[in-house]
Amino acid sequence: MKIIMLGAPGAGKGTQAEKIAEKYGLPHISTGDIFRKNIKEGTELGREAKGYMDKGALVPDELTVRMLLDRVSKNDCKEGYILDGFPRTIPQAEALDAELTKLGEKIDYAVDVEVPDENIVKRMSGRRACPKCQATYHLEFIPPKQEGVCDECGTGLVIRDDDKPETVQKRLSVYHEQTQPLIDFYGKKNVLHTVDGTQDVEDVFKAIKDILK
Ligand code: AP5
Ligand code: MG
Repeated sequence: MKIIMLGAPGAGKGTQAEKIAEKYGLPHISTGDIFRKNIKEGTELGREAKGYMDKGALVPDELTVRMLLDRVSKNDCKEGYILDGFPRTIPQAEALDAELTKLGEKIDYAVDVEVPDENIVKRMSGRRACPKCQATYHLEFIPPKQEGVCDECGTGLVIRDDDKPETVQKRLSVYHEQTQPLIDFYGKKNVLHTVDGTQDVEDVFKAIKDILK
């Protein structure tokens, strides 16, 4: 089963992708997480990506597509995967499509998690993330058991560099310009499903499970 998570920054793609990954035993592939891991490790890819990410801009398609296609060619992706944050532009979607067509495969579900812009800024300002295992929390909505500490691995939680309010605004406008057109793209392929992302995490997950049945 191959699933794409669509939605604005902060819509809850990562939160839901993690739950789907656990329930269905599929790898959760977040291009944002891969870039952040490379930044932390100081790789060349990380250095290149950081300049774009800190401004709230997209990393160039060529680099992102190469990285993603390499990741999905790995053995753990044979039974499928959940893509979170990819594709984000029409050229990225076309590149993925071309590769899947070559392999005789296709995307089964594109799940759009809908959240209005007004809710997004509040979600981002309260987000705390684990720099080690990438688990995500929210100070008010999904607090960790112990303040400032990851439930999963005990690492100290951090604020993401791109969660400053000005950068969030920029990411939202980039989303509307470059990523929202993908809703139409997958609609035309008859794989698009929309869920109301303003509900509780568990209710959003329930709606997604109903779709994946
Ligand atoms: P990326 O890491 O993908 O960030 P994003 O798309 O902006 O999305 P976020 O991770 O911010 O939000 P999310 O939807 O995962 O929400 P979350 O579950 O955390 O990308 C970062 C950057 O990398 C990009 O700006 C770009 O520069 C670059 N990049 C990545 N992919 C790229 C690509 N394909 N091409 C080019 N560049 C690329 O939830 C948000 C908060 O809300 C959390 O605090 C969470 O706890 C809380 N929350 C979640 N669900 C709920 C709920 N139902 N109710 C209340 N709170 C909730
Ligand atoms: Mg995310």
